[in-house]
Amino acid sequence: MQVFNTVADVRNQIKEWRKQGLTVGLVPTMGYLHEGHQSLMAQAKQQNDKVIVSVFVNPIQFGPNEDLANYPRDLDRDILACQNMGVDMIFCPPASEMYDPHFSSFVDVIGITEQLCGKRRPGHFKGVCTVVTKLFNITQPDRAYFGQKDAQQLAVIKQMVNDLNIPIVIVGCPIIREADGLAKSSRNSYLSTQERNAALCLYQAITLAKSLLQQGERQSDKLINAMKTVIEQQPLARIDYIEITDFNTLKSVKHIEQSVLIALAVFIGNTRLIDNFVFTLP
Ligand code: PAJ
Repeated sequence: MQVFNTVADVRNQIKEWRKQGLTVGLVPTMGYLHEGHQSLMAQAKQQNDKVIVSVFVNPIQFGPNEDLANYPRDLDRDILACQNMGVDMIFCPPASEMYDPHFSSFVDVIGITEQLCGKRRPGHFKGVCTVVTKLFNITQPDRAYFGQKDAQQLAVIKQMVNDLNIPIVIVGCPIIREADGLAKSSRNSYLSTQERNAALCLYQAITLAKSLLQQGERQSDKLINAMKTVIEQQPLARIDYIEITDFNTLKSVKHIEQSVLIALAVFIGNTRLIDNFVFTLP
């Protein structure tokens, strides 16, 4: 496995692969890799001759009061995790390789970025779309892999690729969870033991909403209130949002008549966790 820090090294290697007619899959990450990331790598391995993982904590997708400085990092461990997965190349540039001092171009998807997390994290998706476009241009993969864990991010990237005629297939991958249901996340490492227990309330709220849907409940406010009650029982939890949205536009719906995304963001102590599920009418 090769570990590259520069755009030039990545391009040279990919040129060689392309000469041999090999296909390339890209898994963009911010590192501190866990089984969620590894499931994306496994899917990429199945569908491509070569797999590239990028490890880059992208400064421009963090707000001024967010956790850029504290974001967990462990490149040595990430390298081992990628090696175990049979990854062919890691691209882990320093910030200066991605953003020179005169950097001034951004990719801004409007509309769906103004819902859900976009409402609470202004500029976040502009930072994500800009870095993902750069990673796409640097590696020019056939396919790129994103998790349903970040449902809005996946929807935004699909929109961007479609709008801008980017010739890359976007593959969405299911949410990987801990045994007790907590969605895997690099940010789970911030949680104390007490907070880790409290964090289960996101999955408990999801489980309750699923069973109410199964019983035929279709009113969004009833479902949301039931989820709120579960989370409010946790003194360490503070709801950022719980929303039921149209699967395509990500706009809130009052009554469920088509596929919806049920998404929530909850602070557990100072750590903001997100989770979601998609409900399709039977
Ligand atoms: P990061 O949070 O490291 O996540 C990288 C990819 O792993 C994303 O596509 C995310 O949805 C997926 N992922 C994370 N946890 C998952 C889980 N439990 N199950 C399935 N997939 C999971 O998302 C980012 O980085 C960044 O915004 C990035 C796209 C790399 C741009 O900087």
